[in-house]
Amino acid sequence: MTVNLKKEFESNIPDNIKEALKFCSKTADDQNLQIFLIGGVVRDIIINKKNFDVDITVQGNAVEFAKSLENSYPELCKIKEIHDNFKTAKILFTINSDIIPIDLASTRKEFYPYPSSLPVIEKIGCELYDDVIRRDFTINSMALALNSSSFCTLIDYLNGYEDLKNGVLEVLHPLSFIDDPTRIVRGLKFNARFGYKFGEKTEALMRECLNSGRFDNLCGERIKLELKHAFNINKADCLSRFIKEDIYKLVDTSLSCVKNIDDISMECENTINEYCNFLDTQDNIWLIYLGSLLVKANQDKISELSKKLYLSGHEETILQDAAKLYRNKEAVNKAKTRFEVYEFFEKAKIESILIFLILNKDLKSKLDLYLKELKDANININGDILISMGLKPSPVFAKILRNVLKAKINKEITTYEEEVVFAKSLLQNR
Ligand code: CTP
Repeated sequence: MTVNLKKEFESNIPDNIKEALKFCSKTADDQNLQIFLIGGVVRDIIINKKNFDVDITVQGNAVEFAKSLENSYPELCKIKEIHDNFKTAKILFTINSDIIPIDLASTRKEFYPYPSSLPVIEKIGCELYDDVIRRDFTINSMALALNSSSFCTLIDYLNGYEDLKNGVLEVLHPLSFIDDPTRIVRGLKFNARFGYKFGEKTEALMRECLNSGRFDNLCGERIKLELKHAFNINKADCLSRFIKEDIYKLVDTSLSCVKNIDDISMECENTINEYCNFLDTQDNIWLIYLGSLLVKANQDKISELSKKLYLSGHEETILQDAAKLYRNKEAVNKAKTRFEVYEFFEKAKIESILIFLILNKDLKSKLDLYLKELKDANININGDILISMGLKPSPVFAKILRNVLKAKINKEITTYEEEVVFAKSLLQNR
């Protein structure tokens, strides 16, 4: 059965992108090249979801196609990047002052020389079928023709349309997870995002792959990227399944030693929802999930894992600081004054504090006090005032100012004048 998605294309692709795609179609027709929308954007057109990541596959040479577009529409289309080894290019259309990025890839046939390796290109400019069969799930394996003679005809070699309607994730061949185990985490992502579930066969293949334990060659950077995409969606189920279905084995076997994972997962989701306004970026949500599994780990273990996953210094600090807060939690338990609470948290990043909270709900009131009242505490006087009082710049400055801050946080003083008087009294008592 031929499915035409013109109606869905019209309603789900924004007008300016449609306009850019018209120019692509025209140039492809002129050059007698077959071009297709491919992957996630086709999936999202079918499920009526807006997707601005436009991927086009060119049955032929995408770099030459990009150059033709730039030549044909010099005012509208610019090549931003070319990757000659993969024969891919990124172009930017300017339509009604809107910048439309489009990724162009040549169809390519690939193979994996050994489990968890990077794929090796066998042929560039192959038949569309060979390009499609190298992909992860049937729902991502569909193409949508862009040439005028077949505009918006769905090319679905592998039953993706049916699987998508049924919300089922199916891999394309039995070695898919062995070739690329990061696809298991991509499955978590599609489950968290759309609620899609692995089909029976695919689930069995996942188990087989995880039981094989052949992940030594798996590049930490790739697994990190997929973990980030999956956990940043902030769904408790993602973490529960990560542990209960042994997916953690892709990262490190030590991650499994967490009891009551359902409770922790739920705490992660709820805590992030409640405190998301305090986060500078949503990009580190995944670290809060990961940190909740590592809060009892020692410094060396966290360093080892950070190396394995290619974490940045900032990312490792989030995990290390959370574990440090946890190791020292007696101090916050004992904290009586507002300043003692402030001192406990002041150097930690918000993400670390939230990881700590997930594991210590009984300390919520102290943490609320810190985040909602104390976090941004500061004083109005500075070193200049102390100089005007006759003090020469020295390390004593910092001590005096710190004591003024302490008095202010503890509500012993409030106004600027009171800060000055308090600083003076500290000076006299020295
Ligand atoms: N792909 C794959 N195996 C991977 C990663 C990606 O086969 N490990 C394929 C998928 O078929 C996917 C395409 O490459 O459709 C592009 O991947 P990506 O850029 O991650 O895009 P999407 O699948 O569209 O994911 P998202 O919606 O999260 O952008």
